[in-house]
Amino acid sequence: MTNTIESFAGEDILSVNQFDRESLNAIFSIAHEMRVLVERFGSAELLQGKILANLFYEPSTRTSSSFTAAMQRLGGQVIPINNVQYSSVSKGESLPDTIRTLECYADVIVIRHPEVGAAATAAYYAHKPVINAGDGVGEHPTQALLDLFTVQEELQQVDELTVAMVGDLRFGRTVHSLTKLLLNYNVSFIFVSPEILRLPADVLAAVDASGHSYAQVEDLHSVIGEADVLYMTRVQRERFTDLAEYDRVKDFFVVDQALMSQARERMIVMHPLPRVGEISYALDDDPRSAYFRQMRNGMYIRMALLAALLGKA
Ligand code: NCD
Repeated sequence: MTNTIESFAGEDILSVNQFDRESLNAIFSIAHEMRVLVERFGSAELLQGKILANLFYEPSTRTSSSFTAAMQRLGGQVIPINNVQYSSVSKGESLPDTIRTLECYADVIVIRHPEVGAAATAAYYAHKPVINAGDGVGEHPTQALLDLFTVQEELQQVDELTVAMVGDLRFGRTVHSLTKLLLNYNVSFIFVSPEILRLPADVLAAVDASGHSYAQVEDLHSVIGEADVLYMTRVQRERFTDLAEYDRVKDFFVVDQALMSQARERMIVMHPLPRVGEISYALDDDPRSAYFRQMRNGMYIRMALLAALLGKA
């Protein structure tokens, strides 16, 4: 467990299990400073001379561009590899060899890959820090950090909140990471999904073992009034082997103005994005809709992490 900011220097970020409240507070306070820095000056030279390799084997808009922006705003540079079909991966190069290559040129490697454990494999072969930007249905730790930071910023607390996780809890890696990260706090959970998209057994077992109270339900209407945080997710089409099954569940939950009239006055709606119909566009101007502010926070969190891993925090 790395729990002081100095102890993150040279480390990998593979799972939310690496964090405790002390290290979370340290990262969040640096993220705050990064926000001030960007608002006042736009950029700094903290990571000048450093290079990040941004290796994406799966599509991405926010994660990839916010890592790029984070590195560049701190004065560093980026090698972007988001079209692996044009890299040597398409010639059959193995993940270890791709990683061994990139670490010759870069100081830190960000990887998104469709297989669970791919980031850990990359970290095993790399001597430089590796950041997991999503390993299949496994984890997405930096997203969970920015999600938690958003809850703290928006509601000024995490303890005592009721968090409703809604949608694809089975394949949604952001849900897996955020649920585990929230076990560091005194929260209660409402897991809202169709039967076939319930939380995986290992994540539920972690919640069970921690003694946090939770409910698993299928109906959002009956619980929306209890939520302080409504964490919406997209049904992960790319993870289904049977697309007819996807079609049956894809439109299960839609948050619209009618539903939000049942929600608390002081609560927030979050979404890791992209949304594909789960949140009505009519809600974008509702002050409770935090999903655009949430994505903005991603850059500050990633600036804080890069500074910490590269020993400059
Ligand atoms: C998420 C992901 O890739 O897991 N997106 C993101 O990083 N913000 C969520 C998703 O794709 O549904």
